[in-house]
This record gives sequence, C-alpha cells and structure tokens, in this order.
Amino acid sequence: MLRRLAGLAILVAAALCGAAAASGWPERLAGHGGPVKSVTLSADERQALTASFDYSVILWDLSNGQSHPSKRLIGHDAAVNDARFLPGDTTAVSVGDDGAVLLWDLADGAVLSRVDTGDDKMLSLAVSASGRHVAVASWDRSAHLFEVRNGALVPAGRLTGHRNNVNAVAFSPDAETVFTGSSDGVIRSFARRDGALLREVHVHGWGINVLKLMAGGKEIAFGATDGTVAVVDIASGEIAKQLARHERPVLALALSGDGGLLASGGGDGQIRVYDARAWELIERYENPYGPVWGMALTGDRAVAFYAGLDDHVNAWQIAPRKPFEPVESSFPRRFQVADTDDPGALQFARKCSVCHTLTPDDGNRAGPTLYGVFGRKVGSLPGYPYSQALLEADFTWTEKTISDLFDHGPDVVTPGTKMPIQRLKSVEERNALVRFLKQATAPQGGPSQAEKEKAK
Ligand code: HEC
Repeated sequence: MLRRLAGLAILVAAALCGAAAASGWPERLAGHGGPVKSVTLSADERQALTASFDYSVILWDLSNGQSHPSKRLIGHDAAVNDARFLPGDTTAVSVGDDGAVLLWDLADGAVLSRVDTGDDKMLSLAVSASGRHVAVASWDRSAHLFEVRNGALVPAGRLTGHRNNVNAVAFSPDAETVFTGSSDGVIRSFARRDGALLREVHVHGWGINVLKLMAGGKEIAFGATDGTVAVVDIASGEIAKQLARHERPVLALALSGDGGLLASGGGDGQIRVYDARAWELIERYENPYGPVWGMALTGDRAVAFYAGLDDHVNAWQIAPRKPFEPVESSFPRRFQVADTDDPGALQFARKCSVCHTLTPDDGNRAGPTLYGVFGRKVGSLPGYPYSQALLEADFTWTEKTISDLFDHGPDVVTPGTKMPIQRLKSVEERNALVRFLKQATAPQGGPSQAEKEKAK
C-alpha cells in the first residue's frame, strides 16, 4: 500500500511540474482550467504570475528550471485579465472582467485589499517603478489610479477624456506621467498628481490595444487593432520605428527585463521578437493554435513565454534557437465541437465547456464540474470556491431547475452568482441540453477516483 502511494506521489509530482527545457526554463506552465490571458515574470525571474479565464491567478515557482503552481489566488468573480508583481515580489495586483482590482499577499495567497469599481471590464494594469502607484485600464472609458499604502489600495483619481475603452496603461520612469491607449485610436499622456490631460501623444486612428514604455522612457511602443506595431518618440509624437504588421489585431507586447528585446503577439498567432536597440527582427514564430494574449521575455533573452486559448502557458526557446515545432495543444480537442448530431452536446460544447467539465476528477475550470449535478444541492461540490449566493441558495439541481436556470438566467435564479448572464430562450434547446447533461453527467463505470479514495 505504501509503495503504491509512493508511486502515485511520483506520478502526481511529475504531472504538476513542467519539464525543464534545455535552457533551464520550464517548457510550460500547466495548471489553469481555461485560457490564459496574461503571463508576467518577477524581477528575479524565479517566479511568474498568470491570469486566466478560469477566474484565478496562479503564482508559479520557476526555480530549478521547473514550474510548480505555488499559490492559487482565488477572489475574482469573472475572468482575470492581468496580474503584476509589485517591487519586492511579495505582493501582486490583478484586474478582471468583474471590474475588481485586487491586491494579494503572495506569501499566503490572501486578498490584502479589494476595490470593486462596477461592472466594466478591466483589461490591464501597470505598476510604477517604486510600487506606490497602480494604473488600471478600464472599459468605462477611463484609467483608474490607486496608491498602495500600508497594504491597501487607495483610489487616487481617474483619467478621463477618452472617447472609447481604455485598453492599456504605462507609467513614466518617475511615475509623474501616465500614458493610456484607447480604442478611440489615441495614445494620451496625463499628469498622475491631478489627473490632468497633458496631450494627445500620438493619433493612430485604429484602436490601441497594448503599450510598452521603452527603456529610458523616451519612446513608447504600441500595438493596434489594424495589426500595426510601432514605436513612437514621445517628445515629438512621431513614429520612430515601424515594425512588421500583424494580420490580425496586436494583443500582446513584451519587453525583456533589461529592455533589450521587444516582442509582439497577435490575433494571427504570430510572435515576433526584435532587438530593441538595432530594431532587427531576431525571430518569428507562429502559434498554430490561435491568438497570443500574453507574453513575457526572460532577461537572458533565451525564452518567450506566451499565453492564449490553451489552458497552459508555453515557453518558446529563442536562444539557442530551437527549430519551429508546433507544441502539443489542448485547444483543438477542447473547443472542437464534437462530430455529433446531438443538439444538446452541441449546446454544451459551445456554451458551457469552456467553464465546465463533465468528468469527476477535473481540475479547476471557472465553474465546478457538472459530474453528478442532478440531485446535487446547489453550491455543494467540496473544494470549489462558490459565490456566497450559491452557498446560501437552498434547492437541488433537477431537470426543472437547470432548465429554469437558463430560461430566466443565472442572475434571476441565483442572484449574485458569478456565473455569467446567459439564457437559452428556445425550449427545444433547453430540453436538448438538459437531456444531454442528464446522460453525460451521470456517474458511469462505477465510482469516481475521489469516491474510491473516500471508501478506503
Ligand atoms: C464563463 C464561464 C461559465 C460558462 C460559460 C457557464 N458557466 Fe455554469 N458556472 C460558472 C461558474 C463560475 C459557476 C459557479 C457560480 C457561483 O459560485 O456563483 C457556475 C455554476 C453552474 C451550475 C451550478 C453548479 C453547482 O454545483 O451548484 C450549473 C448547474 C451550471 N453552472 C451549468 C452551466 C451550463 C449548463 C452552462 C452552459 C449552458 C454553463 N453553466 C455555462 C461558470 C460558467
């Protein structure tokens, strides 16, 4: 028995730790239960933070060339879009689709401070060099400023005047100026102290998705919805360098810690890495599995970590150059709508599978596994971090209550839930979905692994 357990422990350990790449970096960070929106390295590059569609942030230990999820940060009520370390790497800030800004204690994974700004999505954030100031890009057409004081986030004003969503923010090295990139196509600068608009630094016309202030603080790189990647001279507002265009919107920009490399990633799956001084294209790579939402470059210029539809982050070895070889991906399997005539299976694949699995021993998607959901009391699966609303609800999931959930909407049936508002208006669609769930979630082939463990 003991030997069996030891064998199991080794298997589990092997599954949890990413294999080491030749360069001493892990090949992947695997542990999320949904697509990953951002990846960032700590200053010493011994840790990483990833933000995911599964509502969580993971803190990774990268020492020894491996990747262990060392903390899972649970607190957002929707997809998390960005997470950044504060200087010292003992605290971090994250933002998400729930419009919440969270300050985390990385030693114990606890929420130190939380500001709920409303329902508008927040796509990204920036931390000043001193760690005292945080700027957040919001879809309420503003950027929100905070001060970090005694372990708390203190609101410190809003930068307004944008004609559309704000997608990106950046601080000047002295944190006196904040730059914003907006869907209205303009890069603006603001005075951090009083929030006054200083000027429109550059008018591109197409929506600005991402910004990176270059080393020295005199130039700013941007990526736009029309695929443009360019570097702007801040003083003159002129384009200093036009880089290769993406065929789809640019979704990610990364700068290596020493400022010597800049990488762009796009909706076309392309990643391009440049020498940020000579402006030479160093490498180009295509992620065959879809868009690149987040990227981080290591200071030794060896590896680019990139995130997208996969529920893990991959490392692409830039130096020494590794030949192009598409990495194995869970994306096609997970999102492929099964070859089926069952309309309920199609509904599930399209509308539920990104957040729920049907198997007993799944990891952590945004929502709990639906295995055995019929006859289960609402909010009762052990180990899943339900909202207060579901914990307090008092009914059981049946064909009728699941059908009602999508007839009236989760916001009506379980007010306060963190499940997104979603309705299936057609009774045929609801019936097909319920029929499919009934057979797909029924305990099959004997008890689950968890049940077997319990029975021992
Ligand atoms: C974007 C993510 C997302 C999608 C898509 C989604 N859900 Fe959910 N679901 C959640 C979350 C998060 C919860 C937990 C809610 C809470 O704690 O308030 C949940 C909870 C549930 C529950 C309650 C489970 C329990 O243990 O009480 C059911 C049933 C459910 N979802 C069914 C569905 C079905 C069926 C679909 C597709 C039609 C679907 N969900 C689509 C995220 C999602």
